[in-house]
Amino acid sequence: MDAPHSSGAAENGPVTTSHSVTVISPAAMGDLGRALAKLLRPGDLVMLTGELGAGKTTLTRGLGEGLGVRGAVTSPTFVIARVHPPLGEGPALVHVDAYRLGGGLDEMEDLDLDVSLPDSVIVVEWGDGKVEELSDDRLHVVIDRATGDTDDDVRKVRLTGIGARWADTDFADLAGLGG
Ligand SMILES: Nc1ncnc2c1ncn2[C@@H]1O[C@H](COP(=O)(O)OP(=O)(O)OP(=O)(O)O)[C@@H](O)[C@H]1O
Ligand SMILES: [Mg+2]
Repeated sequence: MDAPHSSGAAENGPVTTSHSVTVISPAAMGDLGRALAKLLRPGDLVMLTGELGAGKTTLTRGLGEGLGVRGAVTSPTFVIARVHPPLGEGPALVHVDAYRLGGGLDEMEDLDLDVSLPDSVIVVEWGDGKVEELSDDRLHVVIDRATGDTDDDVRKVRLTGIGARWADTDFADLAGLGG
């Protein structure tokens, strides 16, 4: 079997920053998203990796709140991508569920989203091996259940910045969240 949850990050570019955070509840995952939003800029690509129900969409909801975008972030099960326009000055949030994006990036471009991707923050669930070409720089967020117990609310979140964009980013401020 292949390993859909491995990040493959190191092969594709320099890992410039890496940080782990323990998140103890869905609310704390939202807090992490809101805090992370402060670090994001237009054109950023965030790739979320983690099994079903890991908390990828929960984190994205916090990101959307932190960015101040329109519309509730929900699981984009029936659409491949959803655009959340900014309420104020900030970037739009483009939330992609790449699970059914069989063809990868080409298909993404064919979606003809009514938004400028370089001016947006793009968050992709299930994008490993499919959307890396969108940007040389990207933030990989890997969410793991801390134990094998599916009833357990504790998650380990590993943030890895790849490329020059993230070289000077200090994720340490995020560490205190959720703990
Ligand atoms: N620490 C936690 N962080 C995030 N979600 C948690 C946590 N503990 C429990 N949960 C629960 O786990 C579920 C996470 O669902 P969510 O839709 O965010 O996962 P997902 O990774 O997007 O799944 P999918 O692969 O199906 O898109 C929610 O029901 C949430 O309440
Ligand atoms: Mg999801």
